[in-house]
Amino acid sequence: MDKNAQPQKLAYIKTFGCQMNFHDSDIIAELLRQADFSIVEKADDADTIIFNTCTVRDHAENKFYSELGRYSKSGKKIVVAGCLSQIEGRGLMRRAPFVHAVVGPQYIYEIPSIIDAGKVVLTGDNPEFYLNSQPSVGKLSASVNIMYGCSRFCSYCIVPYTRGKEVSRKPEDIYNEINGIAQAGAREIILLGQNVNAYRYEETDFAALLKMVAKIPGISRIKFLSPNPASMTDRQIREIGSIPKCVPHIHLPLQSGSDRILKLMKRGYNSKTYMKKVEKIENYIKDAILTTDIIVGFPTETEDDFRQTLKIVGDVGFFNSFMFCYSKRRGTEASLMESQVDTELSKERLARLMEFQEKITAKKLTKYKGRIVSVFVDKRKKGGFSGRTRQDIVVNIESDKELFGKFVPIEIYEISKHTLKGREIA
Ligand code: SAH
Ligand code: SF4
Ligand code: F3S
Repeated sequence: MDKNAQPQKLAYIKTFGCQMNFHDSDIIAELLRQADFSIVEKADDADTIIFNTCTVRDHAENKFYSELGRYSKSGKKIVVAGCLSQIEGRGLMRRAPFVHAVVGPQYIYEIPSIIDAGKVVLTGDNPEFYLNSQPSVGKLSASVNIMYGCSRFCSYCIVPYTRGKEVSRKPEDIYNEINGIAQAGAREIILLGQNVNAYRYEETDFAALLKMVAKIPGISRIKFLSPNPASMTDRQIREIGSIPKCVPHIHLPLQSGSDRILKLMKRGYNSKTYMKKVEKIENYIKDAILTTDIIVGFPTETEDDFRQTLKIVGDVGFFNSFMFCYSKRRGTEASLMESQVDTELSKERLARLMEFQEKITAKKLTKYKGRIVSVFVDKRKKGGFSGRTRQDIVVNIESDKELFGKFVPIEIYEISKHTLKGREIA
């Protein structure tokens, strides 16, 4: 289109939540570009604002509402997409009548067309959603959905209600998408799914899919998020260990170390079976590091339950943990449980857990001092670059050479709180 013929349409996208949401925002940006929008970096410069929301915890929701409020009189077109839209639907528009459209995660492909239409609410299941595909192009590290939704219904979690039931994509479609983005320059692939290792399409399971992806030329690193311990088989672990392109970083969300709480959470494993998987990972995947997610203050959690969580965290020695206070989500099974833990007590446990984890992280990072590691440089920074080791640890590098997009041997000389600092070896 001749850009002088029509005024430019300018959109700004603000994303909350997890990697699936960030990937959805990349898709939305690409669809908008195809509809002659330019994506701008600042909300003030835009005439359309897309909020891609999250509702996994209270905090994510509150952050969105407080930002939304700032645009009530802005005159800009506001589209609210994402997981909160799916839950709130029309209610969101009643609460904020200046909102132009509310679209659930399965309606992202409709966004360009609704911006120019009247007020709409599009939520619920959309069978046509699964027929669409929009690869993220132009990225060194690109995400690909291999499955959508989640059917596990952990008792605390709202995701199965926001993202719909688990549906795995056809292996050929995944292959073609990755092949295309590899040809467009991607070197790293992140396979995405809420329960990513439960992937299955007819005879193809997650292990078979990894094998297939590893054959795609141009891809040097393969990552996946988030595997569920309950779906992690020995075969998968062996396969991950035997594919050099698979990074030796496994994010294995534990949630709690107490068997009683794990049962109430409906996680499908206990502390013993979890530890068995950890052992297998350490045996079969060379130099593996583990990270995790933990919830403290789940209804009825006692000091003793919490200590069992601390114990596993210490026993496994997670490289890092994402730690949260339990947040009551409407419609979930746990929201109906009596004996919700006092907020202050949860916060106090969270602080203790964080302090403990920080010590473990510091100890683990210290071991890297003086080591030479291969870093995939994927970001430009003031005075240099940053990249990630095979185990996905961030390394900051001061350099005036052009390292972007390269795999470079780096000597680590300094340790920060969560990252490393290194220089090229002469
Ligand atoms: N599918 C992934 C997790 C998705 S949500 C898995 O099963 O591991 C990301 C993390 O948010 C979860 O691992 C959990 O630790 C946290 N989370 C989910 N619901 C929560 C709630 N109601 N309160 C607090 N944390 C929650
Ligand atoms: Fe939520 Fe459990 Fe599904 Fe993860 S596996 S998204 S925690 S219901
Ligand atoms: Fe949030 Fe939805 Fe992801 S609720 S964590 S954005 S799946």
